[in-house]
Amino acid sequence: MTTKVARPGFQPSLNVAKMQASSTLAAMQAADALRASGANVVDFGAGEPDFDTPDNIKRAAEEAMRAGKTKYTPTGGTRVLQQAIIDFYQREFGAGFERPEVMATSGGKQAIFNAIVTLVNPGDEVLMAKPYWVTFPEIVVLAGGTPVYIETEESGFVLTAEQVERAITPRTRLIILNSPCNPSGRVIPPDEFRRIMEVLAERGIFVISDECYLRFVYPPGEVFSAASLPSELRSRLCIAGSFSKTYAMTGWRIGYALAPASWTREMLKVQGHSTSNPNSIAQSAAVEALNGPQDSVATMLGEYTERRAWLLGALSEIPGLSCNEPEGAFYAFPSVRGVLKGDMKTSDDFSRRLLEEEQTVVTDGTGFGAEGYVRISYATSMEQLSEGVTRIKRFVERLK
Ligand SMILES: Cc1ncc(COP(=O)(O)O)c(C=O)c1O
Repeated sequence: MTTKVARPGFQPSLNVAKMQASSTLAAMQAADALRASGANVVDFGAGEPDFDTPDNIKRAAEEAMRAGKTKYTPTGGTRVLQQAIIDFYQREFGAGFERPEVMATSGGKQAIFNAIVTLVNPGDEVLMAKPYWVTFPEIVVLAGGTPVYIETEESGFVLTAEQVERAITPRTRLIILNSPCNPSGRVIPPDEFRRIMEVLAERGIFVISDECYLRFVYPPGEVFSAASLPSELRSRLCIAGSFSKTYAMTGWRIGYALAPASWTREMLKVQGHSTSNPNSIAQSAAVEALNGPQDSVATMLGEYTERRAWLLGALSEIPGLSCNEPEGAFYAFPSVRGVLKGDMKTSDDFSRRLLEEEQTVVTDGTGFGAEGYVRISYATSMEQLSEGVTRIKRFVERLK
């Protein structure tokens, strides 16, 4: 018989206790709650396209269900999907990947998760530029690593090779790059990206390139993937990709990782003992997304291009707000420091009061490591954009 001992109630494990809840999801929930109470909310918080998933992709999912593709698949996805991903990178970037280097995941987030937890040990430092996507530091903390932030305000939130070089220490194990960036929309120019990769390769540092917004780059910028770099710069690289934004498939939860076979093997272990394969029906849909017509991507990019131009013009007319030009993704990230006064001291105060007084949701920059800024998502209709900007302007004018 075992002796009875007093056991503590629920307490999160040590690393989980150090994690923060997602501030972007919290902003979405705040907007939902306000809407449910009947308020006329303008929501610039959403980190997802306002477009519906294209019909050809939905049809592929329907057909997959009817054909009985409703069973477990291999953990890293079906051969067909893996091949479609390989073909896409070959076609678009001239990169040759082999099947042991490819795995499908439940969203780009799981690819990033897999890559971090298979690599990072307690004490390892993981570099990331500020502002960063909220999830990056949290997974690093879960893995017992230490996030190390690189300030990039001086370079307009565009990471440079020199900044990376200065941040490296003997404990640096990994860097997470994200271009186009959520939340700033900024893009690392391809030449600079290459210089960054050279610095990292010389020092044996691993890289995650989060290419979730890969296809949403505004002219004259061009789509760039780390996959297009020479193979000697890619030997410690994991690309995290996603169908969520490119094909308006956020709810389907499908993405992928491309990494050296040794790294992918370990990621498959983690995935095999957690979620197993990504949703089988979403996998069939993703094959159609890559192999089917791409005009929906061009249509969405065209819409975002128009909205972006309009929004930047409109924001520039609000005194006290200043905004770097977003070159990709679908976010503007203006500084609101110029309008903070009295008891409105932070961008968090700004966002909260804007929500209370004008029922308009923006995401405070603090969760992205950039207090003083707010993120405005323009993945919403022109009417909503126009209404929201009118409200922000009214709010700011009242502060004078
Ligand atoms: C920068 C960045 N990376 C990755 C993701 C993950 O997207 P998903 O898991 O939906 O593929 C997101 C989603 O918002 C993102 O903004």
